Amino acid sequence: MAKDALTVTDERSGARYELAIERGAIRATDLKRIKPRDDEDGLLSYDPALANTAICKSAIGFVDGDRGILRYRGYPIEELAEKSSYLETAYLIVKGELPDEHHFAMWRHNITTHSMVHENIKKFMDGFRYDAHPMGMLVGTVGALSTFYPDAKHVLDLESRRLQTRRLIGKMPTLAAFAYRRSRGLPYVYPDNDLSYTGNFLSMLFNMTELRYKPDPVLERTVDVLFILHAEHEQNCSTNAVRCVASARTDPYSAVAAGIAALYGPLHGGANEEVIRMLEEIGTVDRIPEYLKGCKTGERRLMGFGHRLYRNYDPRARLIKKLAYEVFEVTGKNPLIDIAIELERQALDDEYFVARKLFPNLDYYSGLIYQALGLPMTMFPVLFAIARTAGWMAHWAELIRDPEQKIIRPRQIYVGEGPRAYTPIEGRPEPIMREDAVSRFI
Ligand code: CMC
Repeated sequence: MAKDALTVTDERSGARYELAIERGAIRATDLKRIKPRDDEDGLLSYDPALANTAICKSAIGFVDGDRGILRYRGYPIEELAEKSSYLETAYLIVKGELPDEHHFAMWRHNITTHSMVHENIKKFMDGFRYDAHPMGMLVGTVGALSTFYPDAKHVLDLESRRLQTRRLIGKMPTLAAFAYRRSRGLPYVYPDNDLSYTGNFLSMLFNMTELRYKPDPVLERTVDVLFILHAEHEQNCSTNAVRCVASARTDPYSAVAAGIAALYGPLHGGANEEVIRMLEEIGTVDRIPEYLKGCKTGERRLMGFGHRLYRNYDPRARLIKKLAYEVFEVTGKNPLIDIAIELERQALDDEYFVARKLFPNLDYYSGLIYQALGLPMTMFPVLFAIARTAGWMAHWAELIRDPEQKIIRPRQIYVGEGPRAYTPIEGRPEPIMREDAVSRFI
């Protein structure tokens, strides 16, 4: 009978080893048993960018990149986008099940009662330069929350974890909106807890002189759906950053600040901002072929295209593309959509993109919607960060509760110099800029 095991022969010693296979994986630490001699180090697995390494078992999000499937806790993303709300989805992601009416009312109450921030936060915001990027402000202020809530360091305490989760999900829209108002030189707007999670966020962003801001229901629902689509995506760069920092038992505010920092990068959540810059640079559809040429020669990347997991159309991109047209009914069409559609058409027809299975990802169309809502490009990744907080908090809790997890500490293959004797500075030769010594002379 077939066995769930892998048998390998070490040709250096002729020894055979049996490695157990569990859920389609072998344990990397089992490789340590493979060594030519007892006094030598065991085998390592070398996996730059962790491209084929599972670092945990997780029950939160499921991605089948070949078939373009995404589920949160088993629920298809399409159904959640159609039928759920962000707050309900956040409950599902964090707690594992959809809430009944009673539990949802409690959850909503618990989140909204944590939407206020300490008045000193406004002073931090005021300390940033007028043109500070709001993602930088968010990294700073979310990290600073740890100093307001020193109880958050009790990461092994379930009640403390629950409290910090409510606080973070509750406060993220407030911090994000404050960052926006600061960059515009506008007064901060306090939360209105009678509005929905996203309605309140729009109010904190856009309320000018009204006593009570009334969000447009289509736009409110649009932002809510976008938040659902961005809420969780298993072991991406920012979630991994959160997990890595949290594995040192650091408080969740510091860990989430690290996640936001990772998300800020143009290859991750910063891509939605870059897509708009790209579409503006292209300017007219006749310039698309020339632009694509540069993407194929490696001069630049086609932003909003490609994904480590999806080798098929990202299901979120499909939903966002549809949503864009619904928003344009209210806001008027964003003229860049015509360039985006034609760029997508030409890329999907091009051998380079076909061969590499590069498709639009969720960042390709989302920026067009944010822009139509009147948000500046620098705010796009900030909205991503608000939504992803649910996923980050769920992963944080999962990591803390997982008895197999320890402080994250990968290995390396040392390729530097062997032992050398120190020479005093007076007698030292000029350092040589060797081609292969990039890391020493950056
Ligand atoms: N434009 C042109 N070529 C690309 C692109 C792209 N957007 N993405 C990948 N490639 C090429 C790449 O040059 C390589 O070609 P070759 O095999 O000839 O060297 C091949 O496709 C495989 O690329 P890779 O860099 O090994 O793929 P990866 O899985 O490491 O990178 C990615 C994934 C998302 C970083 C990358 O596709 C990319 O840079 N995309 C543009 C940025 C972007 O849209 N990021 C948002 C990602 S989704 C949301 C999120 O995570 O926040």
